Amino acid sequence: TGMFTYDPGFTSTASCTSKITYIDGDEGVLLHRGYTIEDLAKNSNFLEVAYLILKGELPSASEYESFVNNVTYHTMLHEQINHLVRGFRRDAHPMAVMIGLVGALSAFYYEDLDVEDPKKREIASFRLIAKMPTIAAMAYKYSVGQPFQYPRNDLGYAANFLYMMFGIPCEPYKVNPTLSKALDRIFILHADHEQNASTSTVRLIGSTGASPYAAIAGGIAALWGPAHGGANEAVVKMLEEIGSVDRIPECLARAKDKNDSFRLMGFGHRVYKNYDPRAGVLKESADQVLAELGQKNNPKLAIARELEHIALEDDYFRDRKLFPNVDFYSGIILEAMGIPTKMFTAIFALARTVGWIAQWSEMIEDPEQKIGRPRQLYKGPAQRPFVAIDKR
Ligand code: CMC
Repeated sequence: TGMFTYDPGFTSTASCTSKITYIDGDEGVLLHRGYTIEDLAKNSNFLEVAYLILKGELPSASEYESFVNNVTYHTMLHEQINHLVRGFRRDAHPMAVMIGLVGALSAFYYEDLDVEDPKKREIASFRLIAKMPTIAAMAYKYSVGQPFQYPRNDLGYAANFLYMMFGIPCEPYKVNPTLSKALDRIFILHADHEQNASTSTVRLIGSTGASPYAAIAGGIAALWGPAHGGANEAVVKMLEEIGSVDRIPECLARAKDKNDSFRLMGFGHRVYKNYDPRAGVLKESADQVLAELGQKNNPKLAIARELEHIALEDDYFRDRKLFPNVDFYSGIILEAMGIPTKMFTAIFALARTVGWIAQWSEMIEDPEQKIGRPRQLYKGPAQRPFVAIDKR
């Protein structure tokens, strides 16, 4: 009974109050705790941004050191996880493996179920931020049949991830600082984005008092879809299919055709009706990183730039305020770094874990939050009597 606001896709519903991230979609502004994403991407590093997002302030030198120590302390996985992963087919998508393994952490850390205890919540955040790269790298190593690499705590967060991805026991692995810096920046740009589909999923699951590991597994599942985090993988596939600059008009015609379900991947956003500021940072970063890697003439980057150029001049995209989003350039950089396409969304997930866990914690601490329980407008049949099978 009662009247509800019908709001499919929650386009005009604020589900919570939050002090973490601010987006002005018309102006193309993104702030974490008041700092612009451009400022953070240029001057900070991922673990410092993680601290900021989680705690609300930039850390002092000693707070930073203690935070990094806490995260690195938890980088290893329980050995039993080695057996779990072996149950997957080798060709399983890394996102499927991540959903499974992160969900499984809820069984390993069952004592963390006391979500009301701030100390336990903090340990759960350290564990999740620390273990996510190990899990993502494990999913990759398993898919290529190479031995898992234990985390190396003497390396930075991004460098350790690269080591676990590409290191092999028979050869010393040298971290390329250009690559780890570029990856760290990609992590920063994906750390949080207020109430997107995956974060809302994490909050909804968390609102029932469920384990944070189960809630984050749900976030990973929501992120996987091509309309959300899966778009970075879809962009690279699309650029591959386009193949050459002269085939761009064909692709744009398909994107504009309402009888064709094809969409321009990496374009458009529910909130940004202007250039996604993260895409701006990545566009610059793409030039820089590809030049440093000796791939200045990368054909995909050339197609992407031209595609953007033509789309931004086209009335269809102009009228609908469709601009490049974060996924448009990230895939090109990751690919140039040698990261396989199927790992792109996994990388998004490991960075977004910071936002998920911060939003989950904020929700638990918020006295106004209740179990998430949307209503509906019922359109089905009215009450009617059961009809026996021989009478139907
Ligand atoms: N290509 C072609 N047309 C588009 C696109 C696109 N990428 N995005 C939106 N439109 C059109 C859509 O057809 C509709 O046109 P009309 O008014 O004529 O029916 C209009 O623009 C509004 O679209 P909408 O579907 O109502 O917008 P939404 O807010 O529900 O969807 C979106 C947002 C991100 C799901 C959508 O823009 C999209 O599917 N983009 C491609 C996938 C993508 O890049 N996703 C990444 C999102 S950013 C970060 C992340 O979450 O990973």
